[in-house]
Amino acid sequence: MAASEGLQLVERDEQGVDKAFRTDVLEGLSQEQKAVPARWFYDEAGSHLFEEITRLPEYYPTRAETSILKARAGEIAALAGPGRAVVEFGSGSSVKTPLLLRAIDPAAYVPLDIAGDFLRASSAELATKFPDLPILPVEADFNRRVELPGKIADLPRLGFFPGSTIGNMVARTAVDLLRTMRATLGDDAMLLIGMDLIKQRSVLLNAYNDAQGVTARFNLNMVERINRELDGTIPVEALRHRAIWNDTYARIEMHLVATRDLRFTVTGKPFTMREGETIHTENSHKFGRRSSNMLLLAGGWTPQARWLDADGHFSLIMARATIPRGAP
Ligand code: AVI
Repeated sequence: MAASEGLQLVERDEQGVDKAFRTDVLEGLSQEQKAVPARWFYDEAGSHLFEEITRLPEYYPTRAETSILKARAGEIAALAGPGRAVVEFGSGSSVKTPLLLRAIDPAAYVPLDIAGDFLRASSAELATKFPDLPILPVEADFNRRVELPGKIADLPRLGFFPGSTIGNMVARTAVDLLRTMRATLGDDAMLLIGMDLIKQRSVLLNAYNDAQGVTARFNLNMVERINRELDGTIPVEALRHRAIWNDTYARIEMHLVATRDLRFTVTGKPFTMREGETIHTENSHKFGRRSSNMLLLAGGWTPQARWLDADGHFSLIMARATIPRGAP
């Protein structure tokens, strides 16, 4: 997953501070349950730490999804058919994107990302692997409807949203995003989406509490970023990473727990935390067959096929844009 910020689309004040980051942090730390949106994990350090996470023995999603793409390439190709424009939501992964492009014989590849520098770098790398494929990167925030390049105006589209990134959103936001994707891609579109599954607690908890402490560093990088970019004085050594399973919401939650009473400032504004109080930094929802179907249907997509990895840990779902019709 790419960093969620770019050079051109980010609004900065006179001091160069990202205004949306400041607003999210100040509002989030003022709430009863302190929270900072997970999208702010992905500065340069956070993006590298996430890459490291994807290679951890405990973090199964990346390996599981890659194995599905390899094992099911033929079925994915048969369902999608040739000649589609693949529209990826995010800059693309150096492993998964080539697997999909090799599988389905597309007419074009259109990665969408708000981080223009990331987007250009990954597009250039991909062009060396696929010299004959038109690669048309679009620097845009895909949470809003995106105007796709005129060159693919007449092509049917296949949206690609791997990694179970949809799971980082609460249901309402996830549905909004799926509906926006539907509007961006059009009536003929299909969507190939990764969704992580509900499974044995220990497997889930270990994936977010790795033995090497990389996920802890990833989580703590959020406050390091706040200190760096928003002139914060949060004592990082007094916060501890915690990942828990919330069964009501079927999600892993990541928190930063205060190990003692704290006082600190962010952009000069004072905050306190009592010992044991937490900053909620991420939700990672997990799905069953029915809950994933329900989410897709609510977002305007009709599931067509669903594939799991050999361990049954992760799902990759092919869906078709729902054409609204009268219903009882
Ligand atoms: C990007 N996203 C799907 C990851 C996840 O598993 O929710 C982010 C992550 N957080 C901790 N480890 C990985």
